[in-house]
This record gives sequence, structure tokens and C-alpha cells, in this order.
Amino acid sequence: MAYPSNDPGEPERPVGSLETRIVHAAAGAGASLPAETVGPAIQKASTVLLPNTAALFDSSKPTYGRQGLASQMALSQALCELENARFCQLYGSGLAALTGALMSVLKSGDVILVTDGVYQPVRRFCGGLLRRFGVRTIFYPADATPDAILALAPPEARLILIESPASQTFEMTDTPTLARLARDRGILTLMDNTWAAGFAFRPLDHGVDMSAQALTKYVCGHSDVFLGSVCVNDPALETQLRQTMIDAGFAVTGEDAYQGLRGLRTLPTRFDRHAASALEVARWFLQQPETARVLYPALPEDRFHGLWKRDYDRACGLFGVELKPMPPARVERFLDGLRLFGLGFSWGGFESLATLSRPTRTASPWTGGPLVRFSIGLESPGDLIADLDQALSQTRD
Ligand SMILES: Cc1ncc(COP(=O)(O)O)c(C=O)c1O
Repeated sequence: MAYPSNDPGEPERPVGSLETRIVHAAAGAGASLPAETVGPAIQKASTVLLPNTAALFDSSKPTYGRQGLASQMALSQALCELENARFCQLYGSGLAALTGALMSVLKSGDVILVTDGVYQPVRRFCGGLLRRFGVRTIFYPADATPDAILALAPPEARLILIESPASQTFEMTDTPTLARLARDRGILTLMDNTWAAGFAFRPLDHGVDMSAQALTKYVCGHSDVFLGSVCVNDPALETQLRQTMIDAGFAVTGEDAYQGLRGLRTLPTRFDRHAASALEVARWFLQQPETARVLYPALPEDRFHGLWKRDYDRACGLFGVELKPMPPARVERFLDGLRLFGLGFSWGGFESLATLSRPTRTASPWTGGPLVRFSIGLESPGDLIADLDQALSQTRD
């Protein structure tokens, strides 16, 4: 059975700068409702009523609610605009986007190369479900060069998973070069691009085959929705992604898709504000005697700054601070003393968060000092710095 395509090539595409196109993408999605609204309808339906018998088998339109209706289609279309993609498949979370992409293209006997800096639950998926289904994972050091990564690839290598910058340790990959070399060898590339939110870096423009992101973070932006996406240009990959989603029975709710689209409208404004504040806070950390290193590619002091500057338009508000060796209790006192920062694992929301990072490594052990991670929110950076200052000062007695 064939299924309808969410190919956004058909609808009229907006013109103007990226910010303008994001705001006007999927405009008119609410036009056929009783009253025209700015946003699309949230269609709550398992059943889709079809106008006649022939339409039951018309694969160009949705025939069942699980395939996604008005708001899901509008969000996919707007994300294509963001990522300069032909196709976008939605998922119920960022993790599902990554595992869904892997399940779509891998088969028993394949080998995948995965960055050692990968999001921890993806590592678990590789060692668990993928392994049970006969797919072997080779981890490569998170700061490895493209040549070094390809040198690890056996003939059965099918895919390279990139996460750049790594979301705990912030190493960067020379993604355009790696994508080109991988393609020459017939190996697919999949990038977790959540840090850049499809806005600071557009992987497909740099030769990556599949661009995944946790929309949960910056696109949704309010710490209250799970969503993920995978954007591709190759129609064959789109078919594989869509068919796997359908075969597995995964679905995205109309409400969540609506929230994702609402978040996307203000992404550029929020994103740049997050980054400007993060840069201020990161610079403050550079001056503190407890700081060993600030891990933030947007800082000229960062060892990946050159790569970031070459390929990225901007940064987000997530960075790490490696502290000089100190007793764990002192790090905990610092984090527990924060008043404006919540303690939590997520990021990309309007509110600032801090967490203690414990990188898991296979190919390249983490040898640095205590690592804390900050997601800088939309509060005033001066207030955030004052809060960090009082919490850090309290540990100095
Ligand atoms: C880099 C990265 N990728 C993917 C995910 C997964 O996103 P979700 O929480 O929507 O499953 C996360 C979540 O923290 C993440 O940090």
C-alpha cells in the first residue's frame, strides 16, 4: 500500500529572508475552516472521511489520522523552509527522530560509526535494540578528523552519526568534509543538529543526508512539548523514513504539531537572544578562578571556534564549563546555591537551566575536571551573572 507524501514542494513557498519565510511558511493552512485563522486547524481524528470509494485508495491524501493531518502537515512544511529541505518527517520526540532514522535505513549485518559525544540514550539504543537486531556500532572520538573517522569504517559501514557540537562536551566535527568523504564511500550521514536547531547550521546544505533535531528544545522553546524531526532531500530516503514510521505505528498529535509550529514562528528572535546572553555569561566564566575551560564554540578561546565560524551563522544558548579539580561537594554546593537556574537535563527553553554532566565514553575517555552545563534562558544576563556569582562565592570559604 502506498501512503500520501508530505512533499512540501506543492504548496506555494514564501519569499524573503529566512525569518520572514519561517513566519509565512504554511500560510493559508487554516483557510478552509469556517473562519480563517492564522494557525492551522488541530484536527483530532483517527478516522478520515473520504468523499467516495476511489478516494479510499488515493495515496496522495491522508486516509487515516495517524498519517498526520492539518497541523502536522503545516509543521513539516515550515520545517522544510527552516532546513532548506524537500521532505520532513515528524516524530513524537527528538530521541524517536534519531532512532526512527536509524531503523529506517539499517539492516542486520550493517555497521554504524557513532560519535563518542552522542546523546546518551542514542548510545543505549545502539548497544541495546540495534545490537539485538544485528547492527554493530563503532564509536569514534568526538574530536576525530573526517579522515580518522573514515579510517575506522569497515566495508559493511552503512551510516555515520554526527552530533556537532556534542551536547555535553561540545566537540565539533568538520561536517561538510565528513559528509563528502562518506558519500564517496557510499556511507550515509545522519546528524543530530539540535544545538543549531536547523537555524544556525543547515546540514543538508553541507552534504549531510539526514538532518535530525529534537524540536523539544529550541523550536518548541517552552519546555513543555516533545517533538522531533528528520529532514532529507533524497526521495528514496523520504520513502524509507515515512514507511518505517507507518509500519511502526508511530504518530505525532495535532496539538503537539501545533505547538511546534507556534514555537518555530519566534525561533529566530529567541535563539539570538539566548546566544547573546550565553556569550555574556560564558565570558564571565572565563574570568573566574575556578574555571579551567569554557566549552562554547562561539567563544574565540574555544578550540572549535574556527570550524564554528566557518560553517555556522550563529550559536545557541547551551555551553559547558569545565571546572578546575575540586571536591564534588563543592560543585554540588555551587549548583544547589543557584536561585534563577533550575536544575534539569533539558535545554532550549525560555528559562535558564544548569546540570552536572557525566560524559560516557568508549573511544576517548573524558579526562577533564568537573563539567557543568548551562542552558541560558531569556532572563536578563546581568541577573543570571549575579546569581552565578553569589552561588560560586558561597563555595569559596
Ligand atoms: C542532543 C540531543 N539530541 C536529542 C535529544 C532527545 O530529545 P527528546 O528529549 O525530544 O527525546 C536530546 C535531549 O536532551 C538532546 O540533548
